[in-house]
Amino acid sequence: MDVGRRIETVLDGAVAHAEAPGAPPRLAEAIRYAVFPGGHRIRPRLCVAVALACGDDDPAASDAAAGAIELLHCASLVHDDLPCFDDAATRRQKPSVHAAFGVPLAVLTGDALIVAAFETLARGAARSPARLAALVGLVARAVGSPSGIVAGQAWESEPHVDLVEYQQAKTGALFAAATVAGAAAAGAPPLPWRLLGECLGEAYQVADDLRDVACRQEEIGKPAGRDATLGRPNAAALLGMGGALDRLKRLTEEAIEVIPPCPGQARIRAEIEAQTRLFLPASLRQPA
Ligand code: IPE
Ligand code: IPE
Ligand code: MG
Ligand code: MG
Repeated sequence: MDVGRRIETVLDGAVAHAEAPGAPPRLAEAIRYAVFPGGHRIRPRLCVAVALACGDDDPAASDAAAGAIELLHCASLVHDDLPCFDDAATRRQKPSVHAAFGVPLAVLTGDALIVAAFETLARGAARSPARLAALVGLVARAVGSPSGIVAGQAWESEPHVDLVEYQQAKTGALFAAATVAGAAAAGAPPLPWRLLGECLGEAYQVADDLRDVACRQEEIGKPAGRDATLGRPNAAALLGMGGALDRLKRLTEEAIEVIPPCPGQARIRAEIEAQTRLFLPASLRQPA
């Protein structure tokens, strides 16, 4: 099965579990709406790519890790769009979850997806309790406090924010979870893979900031110019377009350099080069 199919299959299984008979029908509908059709699916792709580079000897575990990480990402988007955060009416080229289903169901959809993520991990990685325990710890660290998504979003409620600390928590942590969990799911030491995820996560957020400043809503499928309206730290606003593009280039080059030695190094290098070329929409890409 190709990687894209593996990811959609594990996500479908997780959503089917949450919408089984007995579930409130509108909640079930909202959960599926939040996950399908997907966006870039970049984090689960990265997770499986690392697992493959490390031998991928337990694909059920790596699929579960990848699925859990994407479910947490989808949850973070549902909550991020709520009126009390970014108040965004569109996401992935359609009305955001609260715009389609109302705020109470959007809050609950995000909650359900967070729980579904850990259930997916528990079911899929059960064959190896030692790997499962490691995976739960690695993934949980990326979404909670002090250094995960919750912390990242909470920096927006503080009077002073450091751009790098903010971006590492709100975006870098889940990318780092994708790389370390990919390794752990394949039974490889996870820590050598953390820096790769951190570099890619920071690069991806810089690219997202550039899109926010320089793209139109039709191109990115979500409101543009939101960071200025909401007073959010934005790499392109703080460093200028040129400075942010330079930073993105430097971070993606660093990512390639820090790929740890592993059996599938050439393949993952090619995969990451291909993925990072797509971080920016065509309209913002610099000629090579
Ligand atoms: C958007 O992430 C939020 C950020 C952290 C930048 P993605 O661009 O990966 O969102 P989808 O999954 O493709 O919609
Ligand atoms: C989203 O960050 C990061 C999350 C943790 C959800 P943004 O608010 O910058 O992302 P978009 O632009 O809405 O996708
Ligand atoms: Mg936000
Ligand atoms: Mg937002």
